[in-house]
Amino acid sequence: MEALSDRTYQAITRLMHETVGLSFSESKKPLISSRLASRIQRLGLGGFEDYLALIQQPEDGGEFQMAVDLLTTNETYFFREPAHFEWLAKEFSQGNKRPLSVWSAASSFGDEAYTIAMLLTDLQQQGRIGSDWRILGTDISDRVLRSAIEATYPEDRLRHVDAERLRRHCLRGEGPSEGLIQIRPALRERVRFGQLNLCRPIENIGPFDAVFLRNVLIYFDPATKREVVDRVLTQLRPGGLFFIGTAEGRVPCATPVQVLAPGIFRKLDA
Ligand SMILES: C[S@@+](CC[C@H](N)C(=O)[O-])C[C@H]1O[C@@H](n2cnc3c(N)ncnc32)[C@H](O)[C@@H]1O
Repeated sequence: MEALSDRTYQAITRLMHETVGLSFSESKKPLISSRLASRIQRLGLGGFEDYLALIQQPEDGGEFQMAVDLLTTNETYFFREPAHFEWLAKEFSQGNKRPLSVWSAASSFGDEAYTIAMLLTDLQQQGRIGSDWRILGTDISDRVLRSAIEATYPEDRLRHVDAERLRRHCLRGEGPSEGLIQIRPALRERVRFGQLNLCRPIENIGPFDAVFLRNVLIYFDPATKREVVDRVLTQLRPGGLFFIGTAEGRVPCATPVQVLAPGIFRKLDA
């Protein structure tokens, strides 16, 4: 296959930026070239230009989506950055059993959303919150969303879930499903998933009491990051908690927020 030309590379990265906000510098060219090359070979296409032509078509058979998946990472796991969940539990326990809603805004395979569901189920059973709570998980990729709805995971992804919680909220696979864990139906029923592109206007889906926007801002350039954060924060009620990945630094936005701890913010009244 011919090498990825600068012109085609720029056209691919421009398309990714305009459509889903992903930002790739020149230094990412070898990485992008190798990730797409295997896909192009599998599809039996002639090269990068044919692939670009395919993902630009409205009727691309889901290939644009596949390209986004190839160029981003969906890495996630249960109870990632546990301090965030401890903060959420403490905050919600002081809420006088009012209705609660949480948004996992780049949910990937659903690990984050089900982590929150485990936590809220436990808080409800301990009488620290009421029974009226809901969780929404959204992502741009329908491949990960389909998997999130199925809610079946390799054991390793639940390595930070303690044994007792695992027993109460999950079913262990046997025979051919050995090594897999499925979230119990009672927990799955509490979580809804839907497709949402953070780089497009968001219809009113809130207001939420807490929003998790973790480990997705890394893909965006500074201007897109700011737009995405402000857009997402319109769906958080004033006083609500906002989480980003601790490695993602400061939260760039015009919306007033108070820093509480690494990656944890409170939305202030405008
Ligand atoms: C690394 S995962 C983060 C999963 C989870 N929040 C966590 O911290 O473990 C990043 C997710 O962001 C999603 N993503 C990337 N660009 C997006 C966009 N423009 N809108 C919505 N989701 C996007 C990817 O599909 C991927 O599933």
